[in-house]
Amino acid sequence: MCGIIGMIGKTSVVPSILEGLRRLEYRGYDSAGIAVLNQGTTDRRRAAGKIAKLENELRKKPLDGNTGIGHTRWATHGVPNVVNAHPHVSGAVSVVHNGIIENHKQLREELVSLGFAMETETDTEVAAHLVKYYHDQGLTPEKIMRAIIDRLSGAYALVIMIADYPGMLMAARKSSPLAIGFGNNAMFVGSDALALAPMTRRISYLEDGDWTIVNQDSLTIYNSKNVQVERPVSLTEVSGALIGKGKYRHFMDKEIHEQPEVIGYTLSAFYDPNLNCMKIPKVAFNPGLLPKLTIVAAGTSYYAGMIAKYWLEGLARLPVEVDIASEFRYRNSVLPDGGAALFISQSGESLDTLMALRHAREKGQHIISLINVDESTIARESDVVLKTLAGPEISVASTKAYTTQLAALLCLAVDWAQKRNVLDKKKAFEIMDELSRLPTALAKVLADKERWNACAHELAGARDVIYLGRGLNFPTALEGALKLKELSYIHAEGYAAGEMKHGPIALLDEGMPVVMVAPYDEWFDKTASNLKEALARGGRVVLLSDKEGIERLDDKPAWVFEMPKVNPMVSPILYALPVQLLAYYIALEKGTDVDQPRNLAKSVTVE
Ligand code: M6R
Repeated sequence: MCGIIGMIGKTSVVPSILEGLRRLEYRGYDSAGIAVLNQGTTDRRRAAGKIAKLENELRKKPLDGNTGIGHTRWATHGVPNVVNAHPHVSGAVSVVHNGIIENHKQLREELVSLGFAMETETDTEVAAHLVKYYHDQGLTPEKIMRAIIDRLSGAYALVIMIADYPGMLMAARKSSPLAIGFGNNAMFVGSDALALAPMTRRISYLEDGDWTIVNQDSLTIYNSKNVQVERPVSLTEVSGALIGKGKYRHFMDKEIHEQPEVIGYTLSAFYDPNLNCMKIPKVAFNPGLLPKLTIVAAGTSYYAGMIAKYWLEGLARLPVEVDIASEFRYRNSVLPDGGAALFISQSGESLDTLMALRHAREKGQHIISLINVDESTIARESDVVLKTLAGPEISVASTKAYTTQLAALLCLAVDWAQKRNVLDKKKAFEIMDELSRLPTALAKVLADKERWNACAHELAGARDVIYLGRGLNFPTALEGALKLKELSYIHAEGYAAGEMKHGPIALLDEGMPVVMVAPYDEWFDKTASNLKEALARGGRVVLLSDKEGIERLDDKPAWVFEMPKVNPMVSPILYALPVQLLAYYIALEKGTDVDQPRNLAKSVTVE
């Protein structure tokens, strides 16, 4: 993944590069570094760990220079230590990189045979040596760029600085995003507008295959065919303000609490309750004639897609296939002429999802995306964009992005169901009315959140936890298990409740925690039998249900959490909250890094 930034200014670039890196930390936080040009030489500081460690290093040994590059790393090749931290330097050349250079092994061998000494285990180091090699041959910056782009394969956003050219940066992008920022007496290159927003709002996005030479007062962009091109400059909507935690201890806690409000905003973007009419953006096809919808996403967004399948098939009678983004391209799925594909992504930058989108476009599908970051690559490459109004989600664990995705997807299902003439206005109104009242039920769950503490205290000692759900809440079980894994590092698995007996039930023994997501719905009695099966084997059951469900049980589990009663159709949105809260409180008990769990990054821009 990694976040990169470069700057050319009239004064020291270090404070702005650091500020940009802080805002890019969501892309990786294994190590960080900055290199600057100072009177014809390169000076560099690096540190293993988060940006705060680099700041410490800079306090001890300050840096100064008017041209510089910075990097925050999510390790792919080589352990996260100082030696492997970017920028990588080869003589006068410094490089920061986001992506994976797939032919690094061959290049490494070739460069070693040319006399280059490799210092790191990274794929990026070869790019630094390669640039030095061509620079030593006397090539101009333009020729160097053409030469290295011919040699590198894989995905990259690269920013390159050469000590002999103060006031100049070279950059290239292939599959990894890169934006140019135009400041007052300053130029910037960065992974995204978020990094550049405190410094400038004037942004130009490089397109795939573009490379550029950036000077203090000029910019030249070339496309993949080395033809000079212009890219539009727009004013970014991204705020430059620092996003704080407010009164909350963690961003995750804050984001969990924002859900009633942001779901409300998202709903009002897609539905007008006064006129009782849907406001879904127009698509270039008739949803009534759509043969099939393919939904593609990763992680939590994929679970949102799984729930959307229940809604779109159940309400709109539309055939839906849901694919994991990293698998979609490899199974040669049957995509009908005139079909559509929906890509769900909070960041709009997940590379697996982006590559799946490009594959679907090649196969002639209409491209719709549901994203939270509207200037993202996925949004820019879509025909129609549905936007969740969750606001910036900083914590690595997705919470409010997920529930706003669900709210938007249910609106889409209701709208298309009407367009396909399979849902009458009255039924549609009932669902939308229930959705509109959901923020109140969500607020109720949050008001009573302290009750999770004792349960979390007990579950924090578990080695494994099983989550079960049925129907619309089977994906909620998967999401609950994912939240627990990423936040507390406890092994957890989500299963369809009825699937337990086909194997996983062998895992159950005395004391194994089993979280049952079971609102009272048409499948409840069957789920209740699965609950009994778990209890009979000594499982420590945590039941999430409503009054009606709880009253129907004669065997009461160890932990029972009564949820507000809602229409089962909207229950996956409501029941997302307790599984988030449980994971959050267990993480607090275990003392893990809630907002930046180990090994993860918010935006996953490698395949
Ligand atoms: O930005 P995206 O929605 O494309 O991200 C997809 C996944 O990487 C993401 O949902 C991930 O699973 C979260 N960390 C889960 O909390």
